[in-house]
Amino acid sequence: MTGQALAGQRALVTGGAAGIGRAIVEAFIAEGARVVVLGRDAAETRAAAEVLGAVGGVGADVSDETQVREAVIEAEQLLGHVDVLVNSAGLLTQSALVDMSLAQWRETIDVDLTGVFLMCRAVVPGMVARRHGRVINIASQLAIKGAPTLSHYTAAKAGVIGLTKSLAREVAGEGVLVNAIAPGPIETALIGGFTSEFKSAVVAGLPLGRVGVPDEVAPTAVLLAGSPGGDLYVGQTLGPNSGDVMP
Ligand SMILES: NC(=O)c1ccc[n+]([C@@H]2O[C@H](COP(=O)([O-])OP(=O)(O)OC[C@H]3O[C@@H](n4cnc5c(N)ncnc54)[C@H](O)[C@@H]3O)[C@@H](O)[C@H]2O)c1
Repeated sequence: MTGQALAGQRALVTGGAAGIGRAIVEAFIAEGARVVVLGRDAAETRAAAEVLGAVGGVGADVSDETQVREAVIEAEQLLGHVDVLVNSAGLLTQSALVDMSLAQWRETIDVDLTGVFLMCRAVVPGMVARRHGRVINIASQLAIKGAPTLSHYTAAKAGVIGLTKSLAREVAGEGVLVNAIAPGPIETALIGGFTSEFKSAVVAGLPLGRVGVPDEVAPTAVLLAGSPGGDLYVGQTLGPNSGDVMP
């Protein structure tokens, strides 16, 4: 994909140094957008931004209110303003619910759900003021399906889908369109820790018979970020998911 679908758009992508976020950064730049990458490790994020041809990289833990506020100010200084926010930062650990510590539960909710809230709260007011913006939250099909050992993760991602719908209703009339993408299993470091038995069971359940790669998710983000044809999506959850979930 190399066109100008996002020419003139200025995008902030959390988790943009790796995996799905990184593929979205590459696709956005290929479509003419100017992009700032946000990641937990500042040095790693700046290095990735440079390799990818982004405007810059800013370091912040998305679950930290102060770091998010400061990082968004820095990103706005680099870009001028933010037209498109992609929330892709996320983490995944595994534990049966009955064995899960409260700390493990809270870490996942803090990063995977509260991080999306904090980023939206910091960025959306500027979009509303300009009466233009697009927010794309990366959820997961597991929010709909559920998965053993992932109750914290699926609860957080179901929360992201609910947040997406509510925020979409709050700001659609102000020119800000909020949507989610719920990918199926995608080959990234996030699922690198799965046992081979777990992975085989996942693949066996996919009608397509294979997991996806990050470049197969990025075009959905380009559509929702402002491509012609993306303007009727409001509060939706699109599912590039190998057919695993058919809502
Ligand atoms: N890979 C999959 O199978 C899959 C499927 C569905 C949804 N997702 C979701 O897609 C998103 C991206 O996942 P991925 O597979 O690309 O994973 P990844 O591990 O390759 O990338 C995640 C990125 O988020 C960053 N990050 C993690 N915690 C952070 C924090 N607290 N603050 C800032 N940055 C942080 C990491 O440093 C990394 O750059 C996640 O929200 C994930 O839940 C992934």
